Amino acid sequence: MSEEDQLTPIPERAVANAHIRGMHNYLSTWEKSVDETDAFWGAEARAALDWIVPFRTVLRGSLSGGDVAWFPDGYLNVSVNCLDRHPASRTAIIWEGDEPNDVKHITYGEALAATCRLANALRTLGVRKGDRVCLYMPMVPEAAYCMLACARIGAIHSVVFAGFSAEALRARVEDSRCKVVLTADEGLRAKKVIKLKAVVDKALEAEECKCVTAVLVYKRTGGAIDWKEGRDQWMSEAMEKERPFCAPEVMNAEDPLFLLYTSGSTGKPKGMMHSSAGYLLWTAFTHRYTFDYHVGEVYACVADIGWITGHSYIVYGPLCNGATTVMFESLPTYPDAGRYWDLVSRHQIASFYTAPTAIRALMKYGDAPVKKHDRSSLRVLGSVGEPINPEAWKWYYEVVGEGRCCVVDTFWQTETGGHMITNIPGCQPMKPGSASLPMFGVRPMLVDPQAGVLLEGNHKEGVLCIGQPWPGIARTIWGDHARYLDTYLKPYPGYYFTGDGCRRDGDGYLWITGRVDDVLNVSGHRLGTAEIESALVTHEACVEAAVVGIPHDVKGQGIFAYCILKDATEETADLIPSLKAAVRAAIGGLATPDHIICTPGLPKTRSGKIMRRVLRKIACLEADQLGDTSTLADPSIIPLLIEKVEKAL
Ligand code: WTA
Repeated sequence: MSEEDQLTPIPERAVANAHIRGMHNYLSTWEKSVDETDAFWGAEARAALDWIVPFRTVLRGSLSGGDVAWFPDGYLNVSVNCLDRHPASRTAIIWEGDEPNDVKHITYGEALAATCRLANALRTLGVRKGDRVCLYMPMVPEAAYCMLACARIGAIHSVVFAGFSAEALRARVEDSRCKVVLTADEGLRAKKVIKLKAVVDKALEAEECKCVTAVLVYKRTGGAIDWKEGRDQWMSEAMEKERPFCAPEVMNAEDPLFLLYTSGSTGKPKGMMHSSAGYLLWTAFTHRYTFDYHVGEVYACVADIGWITGHSYIVYGPLCNGATTVMFESLPTYPDAGRYWDLVSRHQIASFYTAPTAIRALMKYGDAPVKKHDRSSLRVLGSVGEPINPEAWKWYYEVVGEGRCCVVDTFWQTETGGHMITNIPGCQPMKPGSASLPMFGVRPMLVDPQAGVLLEGNHKEGVLCIGQPWPGIARTIWGDHARYLDTYLKPYPGYYFTGDGCRRDGDGYLWITGRVDDVLNVSGHRLGTAEIESALVTHEACVEAAVVGIPHDVKGQGIFAYCILKDATEETADLIPSLKAAVRAAIGGLATPDHIICTPGLPKTRSGKIMRRVLRKIACLEADQLGDTSTLADPSIIPLLIEKVEKAL
């Protein structure tokens, strides 16, 4: 089937009331958004946000200068935009706990009061504007209050996904020199207890974490935990002492709102820094258009707040729009594989946002768990995190959405703050597997990676760059602006470089082909090969490691590691499990390699560079397609590796 034939028409009933309708209106709005930047984004920012001091300048700086600033003379407070200005009686958050009958409806008024108490508690602990606060929290409403409490007093939050290890948490606390850590006694997922406080205790033992003077602990399970007098306090007790009112800090549009660490192609995770106004506008704007959100509807994003998807599309975007947003603590397969659809039916969810890895995992259980639940409330189904394979797309569209919902395939990154390429309900016909067309304000460019020239017109493939600033772009890497410039803005001067490959088809639709650097995408979690390699060499037996991604039918990518041992005789039965344990300790369970093989050597060029391309082919059992290996220093390693891999898989 040609790509032109794959166009799936917009299901009319899903978009009867759409904010924007038809390709024609999409195109004219898009053109205005990228050509008349000041007029378009000035009007949006005035309409969508409440300002304390209105801005006069819309955009200052440039991608080539690495100094982009939006609304730089305006002042506002993000928490006021997300809470105070919405009707106090409207439901802000529907929380569903690990057990399906554990549900809370929280109004905007209640969320505001809790946020203010927490904000005051943080001030009492000495937290001031610009200080960093680390969150290591489970999926509870308090996690959202913690983020918003930081925003209220101008503190910069740094949420660390609660699946990261103590060592990973330590490195992030150290890099951003956090003053306070907000956590819970334990988390709960499918009845499994996750000992969060114990991880925090271990991380904070390190000398480098002496910057942390207080830990607030939310009581989720009541399980036994260690307590450090003078440092630890129950979150509820600290909140009870405070008033439910807190004067918001007046923040410049460009003041940092948060840091979020993400993986790059070199070892150290990068603390991406997002701004206040530009980020908030971008998340609210994209939430409204991509999900065609209308006030009164229930919207659900089942990501974790530890990732950018949770920041932008559980907390900031929806709350800024006055939406009712769902927070889900459990797993899609608990108590059974129908949990998501049970959630949809009980809360009458209109738009539902998840990742291809979850869809693929659920597909394995067949259609029955879906059909058991009423999904008639659904209009829009979102996908994020990795390319969605057409088979999973069709199942999502036909089985989950009964062919009457729009599927939106949203391409974006931690660095972009919000959606960059996606179809918009009501505007464009869909194509299974294509992220489709740019969001308003986004000018995608395909560039030839060798020649560095623009690839214009259809039927082209290259690396994906963005040609002009958009409000949600991360402004810097915390403490390392040079790395920010080197990674994103210098590779193709004048453009932002995404790190992804992309193809433009005959209809101008964009197809993301995956990362072109050493970043892996495992179950929608972003991991650097270099991080996993450094974790492996922390093991005393391993002197060198090389990690590559291999296709995995549920996770998208699996992790394959080659390890060189100090001494080949050390290859005992418990070596592989202990190498895996080393990775879990350094990063967390999410980075555990699927396969590890030990080898006496790695294919290297004469200049000593590991040929990853060759390792990837061997791990994918495609050794017949190794390509040119004439630059290898010692080609004899190849047959040995092939034999080992074939035996191991
Ligand atoms: C990948 C997640 C194809 C891509 C929001 C990107 C996607 C990386 C899609 C960012 C999609 C995300 N289609 N690929 N719809 N969405 N990606 O920072 O490789 O965790 O660079 O942000 O995920 O991952 P991150």
